[in-house]
Amino acid sequence: MIQFELNGEAVATESPEDTPLLWIIRDELKLKGTKFGCGIAMCGACTIHVDGTPTRSCVTPVSAVAGLSVTTIEGLDSAAGQALQAAWVSEQVPQCGYCQSGQIMTAAGLLADNPNPGDDDINSAMNGNLCRCMAYTRIRKAIKSAANGGGA
Ligand code: FES
Ligand code: FES
Repeated sequence: MIQFELNGEAVATESPEDTPLLWIIRDELKLKGTKFGCGIAMCGACTIHVDGTPTRSCVTPVSAVAGLSVTTIEGLDSAAGQALQAAWVSEQVPQCGYCQSGQIMTAAGLLADNPNPGDDDINSAMNGNLCRCMAYTRIRKAIKSAANGGGA
């Protein structure tokens, strides 16, 4: 049995240790906010935090998070995370929405490391999160707004 913390609660799975964490989150633990896109760490749709670090859950075996703290979009309640989610709404970022939880989780990791990122910082951090709806301009604007307390 593999045990870890998910959004502040202890969880456990008896699935094989090489099962992708994404399958555990979505199919066993029924949190559907984290999305499957490519399955090969190329799109960012499956991004979650492991001990605060943005991580691609599609290529992370569940055994890798044994004893660690996993956060999904449903549990992103840090101040930066809440500011980002509010900015996402006020800037009307999503189009289809499919990529957006991964975008926000990566952005939350960025703001945790750099509370006031510039364009280059944002572009570098968000580079691996793809959006087929091309919402990149609004994503960058929302990150800046969240970094500035919603005022820019
Ligand atoms: S589904 Fe994990 S990076 Fe694309
Ligand atoms: S909003 Fe549609 S893929 Fe990003």
